[in-house]
Amino acid sequence: MQQITRVIGGTVWSEDGPLQADLVLDAEGKVEALEVRGSQDTGARDEKGPRLEEGGVIDATGLWLLPGAVDVHVHFRDPGLVESEDFLTGSAAAALGGVTTVLDMPNTLPPVGDPGALGEKIRAVAGRSYVDYGLFGAAVAEREDDLLAAVEAMAALGACGIKVFLGPTTGDIQAPGWGALYELCRHFGKSGLVFTFHCEDRDVIQRARARRRRLDPADYQSLLQLRPRFGELLATDGVLRLALETGARVHIAHVALKEAVVAIAQAKRWGAQVTAETCPQYLLLSDGDYPVHGPAMKALPPIRSAGDREALWQGLLEGAIDLVATDHAPHRRERSAHEAVWEPPFGIAGVQTMLPLLLDQALQGACTVSDVVRWTSANPARAYGLYPQKGSLLPGADADVALVDPEAEWRVDETWWKGKSRNTPFWGRRGKGLPVATLVRGRLVSWQGSLAAEPQGRFLANSAVRR
Ligand code: DOR
Ligand code: ZN
Repeated sequence: MQQITRVIGGTVWSEDGPLQADLVLDAEGKVEALEVRGSQDTGARDEKGPRLEEGGVIDATGLWLLPGAVDVHVHFRDPGLVESEDFLTGSAAAALGGVTTVLDMPNTLPPVGDPGALGEKIRAVAGRSYVDYGLFGAAVAEREDDLLAAVEAMAALGACGIKVFLGPTTGDIQAPGWGALYELCRHFGKSGLVFTFHCEDRDVIQRARARRRRLDPADYQSLLQLRPRFGELLATDGVLRLALETGARVHIAHVALKEAVVAIAQAKRWGAQVTAETCPQYLLLSDGDYPVHGPAMKALPPIRSAGDREALWQGLLEGAIDLVATDHAPHRRERSAHEAVWEPPFGIAGVQTMLPLLLDQALQGACTVSDVVRWTSANPARAYGLYPQKGSLLPGADADVALVDPEAEWRVDETWWKGKSRNTPFWGRRGKGLPVATLVRGRLVSWQGSLAAEPQGRFLANSAVRR
């Protein structure tokens, strides 16, 4: 395990732009200082890739230093569903992808709907993560009668947020009704506890199921009809209203629709404490890509039209959407091209590919590198009360660093992939801009495509919650 003391010669990126600076780390793995270099240093050198020198110094000449990405939406399937992923493999994939903090969703087994299950999960994953991590609890229908107590106790154990699955998805965790959610959000309105919503309306989806008989099981449009836009928009509007009426901190997961972007922007103008995320798959794909990618692009909510895709980019650039997360949803089971488009499993394994995909977009001019930092580090850390300890390289922050070679070409293939499941539409994709080394609290965790340390990720018990 290598403790790094300095990273010299690189370009340090923040939300505000690039800085030619050396990063100085203290013995606790925090940023001690950023030492700005003279403008004559062009960063040119002959040798490619980072170089590790005596005394824990990394020569990063020609490379970029980004605050490690904070992926606020992963499903590492641990405990209970570990044939698809576990914390070791999921966090290894994160580390190689430049992700230094993950927040893990509660649809594991048993579902994390009460303090007992959360305590069990905290113990089960301890010592098995390469990156720092938070764990969600869930608000579940079974606990509707003592919801406040269950959520209070999960918050006390350090849950990073409370997930509410308004529509059916992997694990089929049912949400309490709107009345109970209203009470819940009123109760925790001023606490800072984040309520994260999967916005698809269960009733709308259940009614739509009857249409299956009349739909073509091979046509992607059938899936879109069975998960109607109406269901997503109704749930989104309800959640925004909940935020407005109660003052609760609300986060909307995986936004996929144009009208949702408009509604979120409006709710923000009206003063809602709301943040919103989208995912690389919604930014890079649309329904027209199904003939190419097939079932590998099945996710919930579904990937929709090119018009939605463009509205999501616009929403990010204008700030209606705050951040990008992966919804890393590994499934070991092979999906057959012959199964109906509406059959599970749904989801895309994406924790390793988010930063490469977005950096490639930045290098092609779709956005700036600072945008990528804002969407994948600073804003996600802010959304969950982790900023500036996470999501920044300001003095005093944890030295979580993604070292990126902007010239390196990447290909999503088995030589690089660390996850257990390969369900991604980006398999085989090529691009430019590759995380080549990752530091977590100053420790070298990955180096040139390999793991470089034992799993020493820490549980980030949420201290942002005022109780
Ligand atoms: O596609 C999805 N997969 N959407 C979700 O909401 C859950 C996820 C999973 O856990 O598989
Ligand atoms: Zn998810």
